[in-house]
Amino acid sequence: MRACLQVALALSALLAADARAADIDWNTLPVERLATLPAIAPAAAARAQPVYARRCAACHGADRAGDTARGVPNLADAVWLWGDGTADSELEALVETLRVGIRSAHPKTRAVTVMPAYGAGGRPEARLSLAQIEDLTQLVLALSGQDHDPAAAQRGRALYAGAANCISCHGPDGSGNSDYGASDLTVRLPSAWVYGRTPEAIRDSIVRGRAGTCPAWGGVLPEADLKALALWLRGTAQ
Ligand code: HEC
Ligand code: HEC
Repeated sequence: MRACLQVALALSALLAADARAADIDWNTLPVERLATLPAIAPAAAARAQPVYARRCAACHGADRAGDTARGVPNLADAVWLWGDGTADSELEALVETLRVGIRSAHPKTRAVTVMPAYGAGGRPEARLSLAQIEDLTQLVLALSGQDHDPAAAQRGRALYAGAANCISCHGPDGSGNSDYGASDLTVRLPSAWVYGRTPEAIRDSIVRGRAGTCPAWGGVLPEADLKALALWLRGTAQ
């Protein structure tokens, strides 16, 4: 009897949540407004998870951990390449990233700039010596709070603000620029690094340059799915 009651209660709670989920006006409400609705988190998860499994998991991983070896970012942490200045809110910025993609074929895609190659394959005027690249690698290790050679990092700092001009995209303190999709080089969290934060990975980023692409989902997925994905990804990121 008691078990029966518990089942009935659980069922009615489920049905109530379902009814609320069915009431949600995904199409007309802006994502910012959706975020304030009661029971939005489970409704967004229910809508987003199957879409994620079908469209995103192959690259970003079933657990959203990404893959530094392939330059696919982790979507489970709260560090985002693109954000602030380009939209009214962080949530809307994320919907926009999904809608237009990153360096995709979409006419409004997010593609302000790329990470230039400073190695032998780079443009002649950008090329740095191996010693200079090593100094910059040591600087990035220092910025991210890792073991480094202080004298080399000091030389790297001069290059960063000078000849190599890293400062123009990654900013005076190395914290990046979310209007450009330029990575925060001061972030301690290992998972936040798209290509990895080992000395080898950092050196490789500088030598070869980077220009990751994410497909545009506008037109492929309904806007309601994009909003649900943004709410779910942001709401569960840690
Ligand atoms: C013209 C803008 C620009 C300049 C100049 C620039 N970067 Fe970048 N950098 C970027 C962008 C954009 C990304 C992200 C690329 C991506 O996501 O595919 C990036 C990514 C990186 C990464 C990889 C971060 C990660 O998450 O794995 C490192 C390391 C890096 N830059 C270091 C440097 C250093 C050191 C310099 C100077 C030698 C420099 N960058 C100059 C735009 C720039
Ligand atoms: C073909 C592989 C691929 C697929 C499929 C894909 N992505 Fe991406 N995505 C990437 C790569 C690579 C990047 C990194 C772009 C860069 O370096 O700037 C990225 C970047 C992103 C970013 C920006 C991350 C940040 O830190 O700001 C988001 C958000 C994102 N993807 C979400 C999704 C979602 C949601 C889906 C499914 C609807 C999806 N992606 C499908 C490869 C993919």
